[in-house]
Amino acid sequence: MCGIVGYIGDKEATPVLINALKKLEYRGYDSAGIAVLGKEGLAVYKAKGALKFLEAKISKEIIKGSMGIGHTRWATHGEPSDVNSHPHTNVSGKIAVVHNGIIENYAKLKAWLEGNGIVFRSQTDTEVIAHLLDFNYKGNLLEAVIATLKKIEGSYALGVICEDNPDQIIAVRKDSPLVIGSGVGENLIASDVPAILEYTREVYYLNDHEIAVLYRDRVDFFDADGTPVAKKTVHVDWDVAAAEKGGYEHFMLKEMHEQPKALTDTLRARIKTDSKRTINLEEIGFDASWAKAERVVITACGTAWHAGVVGKYAFEHFARIPVDVDVASEFRYRNPVFNPKDIFIIISQSGETADTLAAMRMAKKAGARIIAITNVVGSTLAREADLVMYTWAGPEIAVASTKAFTTQLMCVYLIALQFGSLRGVLSPAELAKNIEALEKLPAQAQAILDGKEEIQRFASRNFNKSKVFFMGRLFDYAISLESALKLKEISYTHSEAFAAGELKHGPIALVDTSTLVVAICTQTALFDKMDSNIKEVKARGATALVITYDDEHYFDKTADEIFRIPRTLDPFTPMLSVIPCQLFAYYCAVQRGLDPDKPRNLAKSVTVE
Ligand code: F6R
Repeated sequence: MCGIVGYIGDKEATPVLINALKKLEYRGYDSAGIAVLGKEGLAVYKAKGALKFLEAKISKEIIKGSMGIGHTRWATHGEPSDVNSHPHTNVSGKIAVVHNGIIENYAKLKAWLEGNGIVFRSQTDTEVIAHLLDFNYKGNLLEAVIATLKKIEGSYALGVICEDNPDQIIAVRKDSPLVIGSGVGENLIASDVPAILEYTREVYYLNDHEIAVLYRDRVDFFDADGTPVAKKTVHVDWDVAAAEKGGYEHFMLKEMHEQPKALTDTLRARIKTDSKRTINLEEIGFDASWAKAERVVITACGTAWHAGVVGKYAFEHFARIPVDVDVASEFRYRNPVFNPKDIFIIISQSGETADTLAAMRMAKKAGARIIAITNVVGSTLAREADLVMYTWAGPEIAVASTKAFTTQLMCVYLIALQFGSLRGVLSPAELAKNIEALEKLPAQAQAILDGKEEIQRFASRNFNKSKVFFMGRLFDYAISLESALKLKEISYTHSEAFAAGELKHGPIALVDTSTLVVAICTQTALFDKMDSNIKEVKARGATALVITYDDEHYFDKTADEIFRIPRTLDPFTPMLSVIPCQLFAYYCAVQRGLDPDKPRNLAKSVTVE
């Protein structure tokens, strides 16, 4: 997730672009850049780090010009650096482009362009667009954009300018957000509304595959083939703070809603669709040698550790390999037994958690090979691991992790399935069946989010419970752990997770009429066991909420309430069953008058012990 902006009008473009980028820093902040077209041609400035570093660079030289484009980056391809910052230009420096999204076929396009003599300057996927535009440019920028779009696959919102066309900015989107601000004598583009509110409240929303050509005094719209399209402006009356959160009340709610897109981004580029469905991890350097491991060890902290617990079950199920999973703060002080054939999977949203890094370094020193799963390109974890698989969730602002967690799960499943396939545990047909189920998950996650009012109503009746216990078996136990953490960290409710079979070994003594028990029931082979456990807690006066499949009636008579999730294969339910639990934690916090984005005593990134 990055932020793009563009301005054409009668003002100096540089301050407008910088100002607009400031409003989009929540979308990415590892580097920034602008390209402004003035009398002397196109001037491009870029800087690694927060926007202030770009500002400092520019303040030394005023860039004159009344049109330009800008970008604030959250790296996906190529670590944060000046050269990888946007805008990217063609070889002559006449065409500049800013991009938010992921070009999935960039490697193929890059190879083709290199074969035609182009020398790339950056490691980004975006640079291919600048060179393709150049290749297709025959004097008409719109035609060059249309021809280029026919070659690229993936998600994108683009802003394009060309020295030879000093009166236009071209903008286009597919699967990435983009709005066009319509002002008086000026027009703007932006990834999100807050960037343009200071200049206008009249916006056009672009649909996928639509192209906008912005002039100073009008905007023309076209479909992907260049046929004109009529569009109307919409008046936006959000205040700036609400707009930054995309109209949601909190970043956490916004980020939960971003899960379908984040899951799609994390999955899509890793699936080969040419013949039978297979997984493509070659891009990250994962070859058959990794699958020869004799043991997988997963270490992480907090929510990321819960992704590791799911990972253990997934690896055992799909790849039949022994797996240890451990919290990093314990692992680093134990005297663990290493085997040179171990591989370590280290999971961390930030890639900077002190305990997680210490565990990773310990394993590395012992000769183990390391796979990192992280959300931050260029983080310490990403730099020090042997192989990195990124969660393409975009920046997570709320302290409580939501979209990073579900995308960590997606990465873990992809690696586990690939292991299973390479080790001959999964046949090609089984692999394809599992991939097809993964591909349905983003839409299924969306369906759960669309029904969030049901969870909200449930929370408004139960937010004051003094004890909330989550229980489940296998994958459902892992999600119980995550759900209890989410609830306690943002609503300060005393919540715990239990492996359902463990209840009778002690915890059931705590159950009374003030207890809410959330029973996650998606492991079909264990429904009868869960049903008994629910009856046991109900007999002690607890209220029981069951989370199960939408077409499942096993618990109709036992549960007090049922929340239903779409059916998927049992091992993949964690990516769905966690969503109602995230929503429940969120609505309990809101009902209690708390700010879910900033829970007390917690920091987003725990870089000290
Ligand atoms: C909980 C949460 C934390 C983090 C933990 C590890 O919502 O966000 O438990 O998961 O601090 O952080 P990372 O993933 O950055 O290593």
